[in-house]
Amino acid sequence: MSDIPEVLKSILELARWAPSGDNLQPWRFEILGEDRLRLHIRRENDVYDFGGAATRTTSGVMLETLRIAASSQARGMKWVLAFEDPAALKFEIDFPLLPSLAQDPLAAWIKQRSVDRRPYRMQALTEAEKQALQSAVGPMFQIRWFETFAEKWAITRLNARATWLRLTIPETFAIHQRIIDWDNRLSPDRVPATAVGLDPMTRQLMRWALGNWARASFLNHYLAGPLMPVIEMDVLPGLRCAAHFAFTCPQALTSRDEIFLAAGQALQRFWLTAASLGLVMQPAFATLAFAYYGERARSFSTEPGTASKATAIAQEFNLRFGLGSEQAPFLGRIGRQVVAPPSSRSTRRELSELIYR
Ligand SMILES: Cc1cc2nc3c(=O)[nH]c(=O)nc-3n(C[C@H](O)[C@H](O)[C@H](O)COP(=O)(O)O)c2cc1C
Repeated sequence: MSDIPEVLKSILELARWAPSGDNLQPWRFEILGEDRLRLHIRRENDVYDFGGAATRTTSGVMLETLRIAASSQARGMKWVLAFEDPAALKFEIDFPLLPSLAQDPLAAWIKQRSVDRRPYRMQALTEAEKQALQSAVGPMFQIRWFETFAEKWAITRLNARATWLRLTIPETFAIHQRIIDWDNRLSPDRVPATAVGLDPMTRQLMRWALGNWARASFLNHYLAGPLMPVIEMDVLPGLRCAAHFAFTCPQALTSRDEIFLAAGQALQRFWLTAASLGLVMQPAFATLAFAYYGERARSFSTEPGTASKATAIAQEFNLRFGLGSEQAPFLGRIGRQVVAPPSSRSTRRELSELIYR
């Protein structure tokens, strides 16, 4: 650690708190000089990466977090995507000294911001809050809000179908086995089971089912296995929130890759702004993934019958948003906490583990 220049160390100590899907933290930092680094983003190439979308979104989240964190050190930031292959994206980044640069006020929220998967208050967002969130995402994306009971129910049903599908295929089973931390309420490298939004009994059932695929498959086929998780993870929280939202970019001005990267940058500004307003949120990324497979009739599972389920999700996605999945590259729900912040959350790996050597 003593080999990391002080300025980079301060920036990275903050930026490592950026969120990533399943808390994978797929980033490694290669130090190139006093104020230069290479950011390596590992590609997962799994079902949840749907044509590289998650890798791009995560890259955007980290780039934006680095930019905000650098402002605390009176540093600007310039980045370029220097290299990509099936294993990783590599960005080269400079942090030039800009003595008169003011700290971005969002920097204060980088560590505090955390996903909240519980039900929220149903109190609507104010116009001022919606405007602040719209200006946070910038002109490339228009935020669409789904606020009435009927709208929330429609998006909740869509998300519930996606959750049902992801809980019944072997391709995501292995991912869930790997990323859930059953032993810790604060998990530095996974998602704590206690932060997933399940009550203790359903959590125990899920732990048993995740023991091996034969158990999960038996539950799914004979005992409606995903029913309770879907009710607890989608239906109740989906109705108990201020709104669902989608980032939309109806006129595709640029490539799919650029849209998801920009969506990641916008996401981090949106999420930090929400935190600064006392709001919490939860993404709904799996819905996007299955809409993508359904739109393209692309196979993603060995389990029979999954292709038609993804087609149905894609059709419903189009019905609700009036757009294809890459023109609505980020979805979630937002609101105010009912009680205190959750006592269980994902934390982060130490910076020393994130240095590329
Ligand atoms: C691109 C992206 C997609 C995500 N998708 C989901 C999701 O579909 N459902 C969910 O509950 N959390 C989702 N998350 C939240 C992450 O699991 C969470 O941010 C991560 O575990 C770190 O935890 P923290 O936000 O509490 O720091 C997503 C986060 C990111 C950045």
